[in-house]
Amino acid sequence: MSHYQVVKGARDIFPDEMVQWKHIEDVMHRLARIYGFSEIRTPVFEYTELFQRSIGSSTDIVGKEMFTFFPDGSGRSITLRPEMTAGVMRAALQKNLLASAPVQKLYYISELFRKERPQAGRQRQFSQFGAELLGASSPAAVAEVIMFMMHVFDELGLSGLRLRINSLGSIDDRRRYREALRAYLAPHYDRLDDASRERFEKNPLRILDSKNPDMQEIVAGAPRLHEHLGDEARRDFDQVLGYLSGRGIDYRIDHLLVRGLDYYSYTAFEVTSTALGAQDALGGGGRYDSLALELGSSKEVPAAGFAVGMERLLIAMQKQGLLPEAVPAGPEVCIIVPQQEFFDQAFAIAARLRDEGISTAIDLAGRSMKAQLREAGRMRAASALFVGGDELSSGMFPLKDLDASSQETLSLEGAIARMRERSITKQEQP
Ligand code: HAM
Repeated sequence: MSHYQVVKGARDIFPDEMVQWKHIEDVMHRLARIYGFSEIRTPVFEYTELFQRSIGSSTDIVGKEMFTFFPDGSGRSITLRPEMTAGVMRAALQKNLLASAPVQKLYYISELFRKERPQAGRQRQFSQFGAELLGASSPAAVAEVIMFMMHVFDELGLSGLRLRINSLGSIDDRRRYREALRAYLAPHYDRLDDASRERFEKNPLRILDSKNPDMQEIVAGAPRLHEHLGDEARRDFDQVLGYLSGRGIDYRIDHLLVRGLDYYSYTAFEVTSTALGAQDALGGGGRYDSLALELGSSKEVPAAGFAVGMERLLIAMQKQGLLPEAVPAGPEVCIIVPQQEFFDQAFAIAARLRDEGISTAIDLAGRSMKAQLREAGRMRAASALFVGGDELSSGMFPLKDLDASSQETLSLEGAIARMRERSITKQEQP
């Protein structure tokens, strides 16, 4: 064992687990295509101001969870991205993507970094699958991103999900509401906990979704955001809900849902899973029309998106028995070399088989024939091809079907043809 351990809050993903990740990612890539989203990758770091402007300086993420450093000893710091939305919008604006097509539908599966206290379902490095629809935020556009997200959950077979949804109204609606909320909370100020006092000035809406039961008690009597929504926000929200109902998507309106990022307006939503523990948020998102302006764009870019935590998705699927067996696919053939003096010829045959597109393994550690066969079984190789002195001089090689335990002796060409046949039949199986 090494002296070194993986950093707390980060995880290694080994090949057996990768099988399960790939299964999930395949579904995501496939549905992204069906919904017309194209994949984007952006750098893992951005200038710190990008996140301060977009996520908001008063949020937990920007306030205490960012990994920020000064790479050049200069004044300009960079930060490991704590989320993707800001970077995707930055990239789209920088490239002027919307000039080529006014609606851009982008998705990603990417690593993020938040300096949170690690616990089950909460890591310091984690991944999200997410989508950002830029250039439209009509009720249909918002409904479409929600449908896309829910479709992925559905396709993966998840149950026990709850979609909560709220309208945060326009910026003006919220300004009016903030004042009303502060006026209500002011007489209770002495009873507010430290976090809520901090939020009182900067972002009192965040007090609404406090987990502290004492705060929840105070909040219970607070004026409601939905009572401060203008006609436009109400109409918009009703239409979004109408699309969801039309599609048979269950939701629950949660007037206290605010979300921990400042860029949202109008619709915001979150999905929780009963299969998860304390960290039960599987994904969330919403509409964020003013983000582009915050980032210095001269024009508003209507937008909406969502992100789903990959690790939490895996935990939920594991709990519900939805993950495929964690066994990497074995090679088509394992070359068995009974005498090491013929290794080089056998190694050349392995190269030849690989050129033919056949997945081939050969022992590189000089082990005994028995050990090689054991390894072929462990790897779940479909067949074993014996390459020894007699075989090389006769040009005829025993090919053993390890599944059926049958064996035939073939020329190299014959063996290649047989393996091809077998892998085609295997692929055709469901
Ligand atoms: P978020 O709610 O901060 O939204 O994160 C989305 C999901 O990422 C969470 O529901 C959770 O599953 C996962 N997640 C967050 N933090 C952690 C962590 N420390 N460890 C493991 N999983 C975590 C956003 O990030 C927005 N950018 C979503 C969005 C996209 N809004 C519009 N477009």
